[in-house]
Amino acid sequence: MANQLLSGKKGIIFGALDENSIAWKTAERVFEEGGQFVLTNAPIAMRMGKINELAEKTNSIVIPADATSEEDLAKLVEQATEHLGGKLDFVLHSIGMSVNVRKGRAYTDEKYDFTAKGWDVSALSFHKVMQSLYKADAMNEWGSIVALTYMAAQRTFPDYNDMADNKAYLESVARSFGYFFGKEKKVRVNTISQSPTPTTAGQGVKGFDAFINYAEKMSPLGNATAAECADYTVSLFSDLTRKVTMQNLFHDAVSPIQE
Ligand SMILES: NC(=O)c1ccc[n+]([C@@H]2O[C@H](COP(=O)([O-])OP(=O)(O)OC[C@H]3O[C@@H](n4cnc5c(N)ncnc54)[C@H](O)[C@@H]3O)[C@@H](O)[C@H]2O)c1
Repeated sequence: MANQLLSGKKGIIFGALDENSIAWKTAERVFEEGGQFVLTNAPIAMRMGKINELAEKTNSIVIPADATSEEDLAKLVEQATEHLGGKLDFVLHSIGMSVNVRKGRAYTDEKYDFTAKGWDVSALSFHKVMQSLYKADAMNEWGSIVALTYMAAQRTFPDYNDMADNKAYLESVARSFGYFFGKEKKVRVNTISQSPTPTTAGQGVKGFDAFINYAEKMSPLGNATAAECADYTVSLFSDLTRKVTMQNLFHDAVSPIQE
């Protein structure tokens, strides 16, 4: 299905941990479409994951960066633009983690330093990534920045816990930064609200199997897979969507029938 939609385009892809990761599938699709990129993940994920395998397959390099560290992000942007030989056309933020979820704390029993850490990783990191790109003037005009979110930002899914609040914040950052990035640099910023997907982060949600089956039944087109999410992201990185910005784009058709 490759059409060289991203031929000549360069970017950074955050969050490929293993072959189930949405970012992993996206990296493979971007590569098929002719895009060139740097892969990045938190230093700890490098040791656990298989990102080097993906780098080899996609002819890319890996630059570790903790997405909560402004210093790491500044270095990443500098080294990525140097390696790729110029400014960037696309960036994928595919990062999420709740310490409360990991430690089994209920929404009504949050430990707030866990809450703060999860918010920093899952939500504020998107602002930090964009601010690093903006200050370094690292994006080309008509570039595209995408982050992944979930519908729990709009509807109540009790087991999604504090990630619901993190996603609401992330979507707001996309709109707010999207304004400045659009006005000043003609760069678009969107979030894709993806279906439940069996990945490491997805399966961390309590009752995930029941949840994914429910979503499948509620969606006229069925759940979107990670590979389909990668296709959608490619379309948002391509020149075919140059005037789409500051949008939260649902990718599972559930939303309309719940209105
Ligand atoms: N899986 C789902 O059901 C689902 C649904 C909707 C949205 N999403 C979102 O998709 C995105 C990708 O998640 P996934 O499902 O592919 O799971 P995943 O576990 O494969 O990816 C999450 C990534 O976040 C990275 N990460 C965590 N802390 C980090 C840090 N400090 N700095 C840099 N990277 C860090 C992890 O190393 C991992 O690569 C997340 O934003 C997630 O919330 C997932």
